[in-house]
Amino acid sequence: MALDKYGRFSDDGKEFIITRPDTPAPWVNYISNGRYTGLVSNTGGGFSYWMDPRDSRITRFRYNSLPWDRPGRYVYLKEIGIANPEDSVSGAIPNRARSMEDTDGECWSLSWQPTAHKPDEYECRVGLGYQTIRQVYRGVRSEITYFVPLDDDLEIWLVRLRNESFEPKRLGVVSYVELCLGHALQDLIMQPNDQHFNLAKFSREDNAIYATKNYWVTNRGVSVAQPNQAWDRYVFFTSDLPTESWDCLKDAFIGPWRSESNPIGLTQDLLSDTDITSGDACAALQSEIVLEPKQEIEFVVLMGCVPSEGYLAHSRPMIAKYRSPEAARAALAEVKAHWDEYLSPVHVETPDPEMNIMLNVWGKRQSWVTFNMNRNAGYYHGGLLFGVGIRDQCQDMMGPILSVPDEVADRLMEVLSKQFADGSTLHNYFKLTGVGEKTGHSDTPLWLPLAVMNYLKETGDWTYLAKVVGFYDGGESDVLDHVIRACDYVLSQLTENHLPKFGPGDWNDTLDYVGRKCIGESVLVAHFLCYILRETATLLDQVAAQHSCPSVAYITETAARYRTEYGLIKAAVNERCWDGEWYIRGIRDDGDVIGSSRNTQGRIHMNAQSWAAISGVAGGERAKMALDSADRLLITSRGPKILSPSYTQLDPGIGLATRCVSGKKENGAIFNHVVAWAILGNCVIGNGNRAYDYYRKTLPMVQASADPDLYKMEPYVYSEYVTSDDHPTFGQASHSWLTGSGVWMFRDGLDYILGVRPTYDGLMIDPCIPDTWDGYKVTRRFRGVTYQIEVRNPNHVQHGVASLEMDGKPVEGNVLPILERGRTAKVVCVMQ
Ligand code: GLC
Repeated sequence: MALDKYGRFSDDGKEFIITRPDTPAPWVNYISNGRYTGLVSNTGGGFSYWMDPRDSRITRFRYNSLPWDRPGRYVYLKEIGIANPEDSVSGAIPNRARSMEDTDGECWSLSWQPTAHKPDEYECRVGLGYQTIRQVYRGVRSEITYFVPLDDDLEIWLVRLRNESFEPKRLGVVSYVELCLGHALQDLIMQPNDQHFNLAKFSREDNAIYATKNYWVTNRGVSVAQPNQAWDRYVFFTSDLPTESWDCLKDAFIGPWRSESNPIGLTQDLLSDTDITSGDACAALQSEIVLEPKQEIEFVVLMGCVPSEGYLAHSRPMIAKYRSPEAARAALAEVKAHWDEYLSPVHVETPDPEMNIMLNVWGKRQSWVTFNMNRNAGYYHGGLLFGVGIRDQCQDMMGPILSVPDEVADRLMEVLSKQFADGSTLHNYFKLTGVGEKTGHSDTPLWLPLAVMNYLKETGDWTYLAKVVGFYDGGESDVLDHVIRACDYVLSQLTENHLPKFGPGDWNDTLDYVGRKCIGESVLVAHFLCYILRETATLLDQVAAQHSCPSVAYITETAARYRTEYGLIKAAVNERCWDGEWYIRGIRDDGDVIGSSRNTQGRIHMNAQSWAAISGVAGGERAKMALDSADRLLITSRGPKILSPSYTQLDPGIGLATRCVSGKKENGAIFNHVVAWAILGNCVIGNGNRAYDYYRKTLPMVQASADPDLYKMEPYVYSEYVTSDDHPTFGQASHSWLTGSGVWMFRDGLDYILGVRPTYDGLMIDPCIPDTWDGYKVTRRFRGVTYQIEVRNPNHVQHGVASLEMDGKPVEGNVLPILERGRTAKVVCVMQ
């Protein structure tokens, strides 16, 4: 497999092992406990932040930097010389006078960059919550593991060095980061001014650098008004090696006309011991060690973030707790154990090894990352502008809900509090300040009910509906009422044709000028609204059936009203929006249609077909025809496109999609989020062969293995899109990690292809697989019960259940009943 050129998965699938440092792009990992977060590439690049990557940034990252992927978290080594024979003490030795005359003074870093030396051996283990880079260079075997412990807001670099040579070695060790300290966007655009507020100093007493900024912008928007406040955090940077010298001034460490690759600090015997009250801040600590042949040393570097007020009282216990290799190893073991537990609710064994790796490990991992980082802190989303999106968060929850439902419950509360009393919502907000933007995207309010229903189906926690949450504009109500208000708000926005307005965009942000005048109509939102109304009506039936429900009549009437609306919108869509062989995508403010055979570009859009099936708006034959048309007109060898033909002419009545080059992003790429819904749609109509074909084609490791240099992105997680055959770079991925396709592909694979999905009443078994498969196994923990499910496919069909047995007894229908918590049930399903 060509993937071998850069790496492979470990046997248990829990690590991706990168085997050479010069990957086609930085291949990134996240270290985070949900509050303190770092992005770490395979060469040590990346940045750290606390809670919000715009408002509370700890270290800098230079977007558009050359060389790319700068700066990062670096530990440099420098050869100081051969240790004197009379040096009897080895390990860390402070304050030793020495000269560099007997060595060439070569410096290198433990993560390959930024020195870009040629290591004799290199390996990067992209792990679950940790990143380990191993090297051998100049006779030193090194290992650095970066991670964030579960309970405290700091990052730990656990370092091991071993002298593999036959000579004793005396080495300088310099740990380095470039500090941002506060508002990252402000830092980017106002750096010459901003640096006048930096404070950073070394404390001999604590063997640590402390840094903060005396000025902090938390304005709602761009403003010249000066907020009268300091950043509310202090950063500490420390090591258990005794510090010989340090720098807090970046210019002193890097030196004029130099970069991280060749800092002047490394050419000096000692760093310059700079403390700053203004100037560009960094944290650099230098120590010296001696290693006898075959001798090993372990040490740690810690960087953390604490409240400014009483920062010493906060930081000292944290430093004391973690500043030893033993403590660091124990904290790393906890991270690994946490991730084993996190992965444990589901395990699959299918005939497809890549699908197994995705469903067992990386799909869960990616959706945890998107749940926490949203579309915010990435190498392709700078974390400077959008904050977190309501629609994105509501979808991302579908992954972690299996493993950490309580965290999802809390986050969902936070998101619900961004709803207005009329049922509309903010579109995005910033986590630290809670401040957000209301854009009027027509789909956004509807993601809230979806998230609530997914939570209930997974947990059965009906008390959740009675919890009271405030509205963003004042007042409060219970969760169930938030759900109803969301539906009612979108229903209140229908046009006289009984279709939802397009507004400044729907799920597709780049169809942003189709309906700004609030005349145009979105077919996707019509389908999506129907889906939500149908699901909410079912939810309300459940609520009404519960004796505790206080107002059965109101609930029943609302369910009936939603069913009536479903019928009316469905009829309107089928009457006005069926193009003959597929559904149009929308109607513009000026009355023209998009996504129709009458158009010369953008004639067919996948979403309008997938959601027609998912929502039930298209009946059997029509749904099949819509999805067949989409397949015929959109498929490529790497999966189906979002639309075709991609736009080549700018159309101001459509917007950004038509400004984007053909074949990329929302203009005709293989946009994985859209592919995920196409898979779901095909499962709904029982086309297992096609659903799996799309699933298989778009698996990141399958795509990457064909030509990793072309594909470019990480093979272990989905990217937002892959360039389609409408562009010369067909097959190139972009925007890795932060994409809704991560979670949808996970749930598609598990819930719809393997067909093991939660309902209010039990676990449904509804396979929709390729007819070549003989069967598969799924172990699924659901409401405290472990279901060990074996599906057999003796007649090689694509879907349909002939018989279902649990613990040897037949089950009627295809929903497994909920048993007592703690039980294990053996299930055998035979397909038709
Ligand atoms: C990006 C956005 C997401 C949007 C999608 C399609 O992924 O983050 O919210 O739905 O693009 O435009």
